[in-house]
Amino acid sequence: MRRKVTKAIFPVAGMGTRFLPATKSVPKEIMTLVDRPLIQYAIDEARAAGIKEFIFVTSRGKGALEDYFDHAPQLEQELKKKKKSELLQILKNTNMESGAIAYIRQHRALGLGHAVWCARRLIANEPFAVILPDDVIAAEKPCLQQMVEAYAETGGNMVAAMEVEPERSSSYGMLDVAEDLGQLVKVKGMVEKPAADKAPSNLAVIGRYILTPNVLQNLNQLKSGSGGEIQLTDAIAREIEQSRNVYGYRFRGQRFDCGSKSGFLQATVAFGLAREELRDDLSAYLRSIMQIDKAAQ
Ligand code: G1P
Repeated sequence: MRRKVTKAIFPVAGMGTRFLPATKSVPKEIMTLVDRPLIQYAIDEARAAGIKEFIFVTSRGKGALEDYFDHAPQLEQELKKKKKSELLQILKNTNMESGAIAYIRQHRALGLGHAVWCARRLIANEPFAVILPDDVIAAEKPCLQQMVEAYAETGGNMVAAMEVEPERSSSYGMLDVAEDLGQLVKVKGMVEKPAADKAPSNLAVIGRYILTPNVLQNLNQLKSGSGGEIQLTDAIAREIEQSRNVYGYRFRGQRFDCGSKSGFLQATVAFGLAREELRDDLSAYLRSIMQIDKAAQ
């Protein structure tokens, strides 16, 4: 029997400079889409996939993120007293089991690979997931759950994959495809952020991974790669060099790049429209500004 994936790493050490001045005092992962912090979407997705242990790789200034996961007994009491049972339920749904969360500090910003490596002792010898909370994926079945189900068949290493325009390849890890099996692709190489003319395909890595502990061994030996950082992409690529399997998984769902302002705004609109209580107002507003925009042209 294949070992279940029950641990996930959430690299959240980044400074979020693209969202300054907001991120001067608020961690990027606490910024909200409608009414839920980005990190809550990532946690919910992990839970749906069967994750039981949540490992956050943090840095200085991320205190609000740690506080967010504390229970709030006073607030719960207050809501109970006022009979606000719906809000109370929303609040309770964010509660984490005692001992389910661990925080590790990444002392220096040496890249995503280094952030994952910082959690190596907590992972030990098990397969594990990595979720990048900046990549928010709206899907009927949460993306990591789709991947865990596929992984139960394939084993090996798996990365979420999505087609991108060639000129966008310099923003992603790009896959070199050995065999396209439809939903799954077998990967024969990976390159971090290549120029458009150097990209081996138009399939990009999106921030969901299921990895074997070998990848942590590979990270042990890695020197800095693209952008002077230690790249997770390079450590996964080494798996292929050592004849172990790496798959790309074309997930079903819509991905938003919430690491960019435009992506964040798009996600806000999409998640707003998905809410029954907001849909009518918001879509009426969007229609009205689109008309004004058209009239002005
Ligand atoms: C990271 C990874 C990259 C991946 C991307 C997905 O890059 O290094 O391989 O394609 O996430 O969002 P970042 O966006 O953190 O620069």
